[in-house]
Amino acid sequence: MIRKLTLTALAALVLSASGGAMASETGNVEDIAFSFEGPFGTFDRNQLQRGLQVYTEVCSACHGLKYVPIRTLGDPGGPQLPEDQVKAYAAQLSIDDPETGDTRARKPSDHFPVSPDPVAPDLSLMAKARKGFSGPYGLGLNQLFRGIGGPEYIVSILTGFSGETKEQAGTTLYENHTFPGGWIGMPPPLSDGQVEFADGSPNDVKHMAEDVAAFLMWTAEPKLMARKHAGFDAVFYLALLSVLLYLTNKRIWAPLKGKKKSA
Ligand code: HEC
Repeated sequence: MIRKLTLTALAALVLSASGGAMASETGNVEDIAFSFEGPFGTFDRNQLQRGLQVYTEVCSACHGLKYVPIRTLGDPGGPQLPEDQVKAYAAQLSIDDPETGDTRARKPSDHFPVSPDPVAPDLSLMAKARKGFSGPYGLGLNQLFRGIGGPEYIVSILTGFSGETKEQAGTTLYENHTFPGGWIGMPPPLSDGQVEFADGSPNDVKHMAEDVAAFLMWTAEPKLMARKHAGFDAVFYLALLSVLLYLTNKRIWAPLKGKKKSA
């Protein structure tokens, strides 16, 4: 009986694994060793600040981040801007106040704007909405060790333009090796040297793409680090509890076990 069950389980595993591999691989998404991956990974604050800059100067012309409150830019574990910079960042964005009907400057308690370009998707959760890879053989091992590949997918989209364009039903499409179908409605947004970083970090397309992808991972999962810490603490306390319970158990049974030996 048990043997039969084991065999069935194994067969199911093998079948689902091979099916997964076929269904999940997107075009040429390469793994990137981001600082926030792995059980002890943390966001790189400087990288998040550079990513915010790329988003602000380039992507925000079309894409919104409507689920992200501006105040979180100051949170520990994130870009962690000083309070006055968070205020200044909010103030340069305007909003139609739903209560007064007037246009006013945003406050840190407001969210980032919605997408100015109605066909450009909101990027708040994009890094988790897309997956880059799940192999080997769809077993989910990559997810465990390297993350789901959402940030890698974004880097791959931003660096995957071939330069070819075509007109289709009145819109221009741009050839992109990563985008499913091969043609995307977004013009290549980045070019080498487009954004000047205050710390003099490299600003070629690949580096800017990695910085903005890391920033978008943070917008999609701002509590990533807190979650990892909580998980680590839980494992630590459970291990400690196991040791204490083992010792307690030994002590409780000690008189009886002792008797048996002497008998
Ligand atoms: C000129 C406007 C414009 C700019 C600037 C722009 N995008 Fe886009 N983006 C679009 C449009 C339009 C789409 C939808 C394309 C489609 O579905 O064919 C899109 C789609 C995307 C997608 C989704 C791909 C998918 O799988 O659906 C991502 C990710 C993305 N953009 C990231 C970025 C990033 C990061 C930046 C800044 C470096 C940026 N975009 C700058 C217009 C823009």
